[in-house]
Amino acid sequence: MNEIYHIPAMLRETIQGLNIQPNGLYVDVTFGGGGHSRAILEAMRQGAKGNRQGAKGKLYSFDQDLDAYRNAMESNRFAVESQTASLLDHSPGSLSDNWQFVHSNFRYLRNFMDYYGVEQIDGLLADLGVSFHHFDCPERGFSFRFSAPLDMRMNQTGGKTATDILNTYSEEDLARVLYIYGELKNSRQLAKKIVKAREKKAIERTEELVSLVMGRPVKLLDAASQSLDNGYKELEIPTGAKKELAKVFQALRIEVNDEMGALREMLLAAKDLLKPEGRIAILTYHSLEDRIVKNFLRSGNLEGIIEKDFYGNILTPFQVIEKGLTASEEEVERNPRARSAKLRVAERLDVRG
Ligand SMILES: C[S@@+](CC[C@H](N)C(=O)[O-])C[C@H]1O[C@@H](n2cnc3c(N)ncnc32)[C@H](O)[C@@H]1O
Repeated sequence: MNEIYHIPAMLRETIQGLNIQPNGLYVDVTFGGGGHSRAILEAMRQGAKGNRQGAKGKLYSFDQDLDAYRNAMESNRFAVESQTASLLDHSPGSLSDNWQFVHSNFRYLRNFMDYYGVEQIDGLLADLGVSFHHFDCPERGFSFRFSAPLDMRMNQTGGKTATDILNTYSEEDLARVLYIYGELKNSRQLAKKIVKAREKKAIERTEELVSLVMGRPVKLLDAASQSLDNGYKELEIPTGAKKELAKVFQALRIEVNDEMGALREMLLAAKDLLKPEGRIAILTYHSLEDRIVKNFLRSGNLEGIIEKDFYGNILTPFQVIEKGLTASEEEVERNPRARSAKLRVAERLDVRG
């Protein structure tokens, strides 16, 4: 993997929000290219400066996509911090024992913390959604830019693909997915078109879906030119069609990976695991997931119901610290994909519930 796997969004703001302690226990539930994980380990190291034993903290990094782990190992950036490399590196103060990769969906956060004997954590980071790698890798089927099979699974070891959804969901369910996760106003019309098209032939490739959405066959970009290094071909997408296609592909991706279900389960587990004064930092990229996070951090429950005691005092397990910070203009210029990022941070209060 030679491409840029990912550029982390709002790195400084996120690490500041987490208030990293050198001996703390942390979880990054979305490892991706490891930019945030590396910064957490670095903050631990910095915090332990002058202490001969070094940082004694630990970071557990989850990712359901094995490509993330493979990339970290290949690029060697995590090699000294990995469990495997700890066999080679026993120098005092090295980070060899401070990092553990967990190949799992973060909805199983509680199970894995139990497995590792962790009862409480000092902080958790979630940088939701997909990485640049997912969009830039044609064969994964996340991008409408390439001709490829419609897969879209972050975890390629199982589960339904976008092809399965497009060819088996009822018209009503398709319309619901497109409307709720893609905020598409014409969701019903599009669902009808999908059902009609699949009666003739199953929808299996990006170009078939792109043509359906655009209402005319999509062409290959400069058919005379060579295909990409990996044998995949690019599609010629008119600028005017990009917005709608992005919404359709986003909706399917969210459904394929049950992103909202996993987020809800992880939030509940995080609330139970965080110590008093422990921090949770979440980066969201679209309004639906942001609303879930915002309501949860305000109220401590998924329904967003603010509970009050007998005297009318608000009862909440979190103190909100950051209410939806966005990336600076300078960062967006450097990394345009940070434009939609929103950072929310909260501290766990010393109350049950
Ligand atoms: C936006 S990227 C994270 C980038 C990372 N912060 C960095 O600095 O490179 C999101 C990553 O989280 C992973 N991911 C998304 N949902 C997940 C889930 N439910 N469980 C585990 N990993 C998930 C994706 O596979 C992807 O690699």
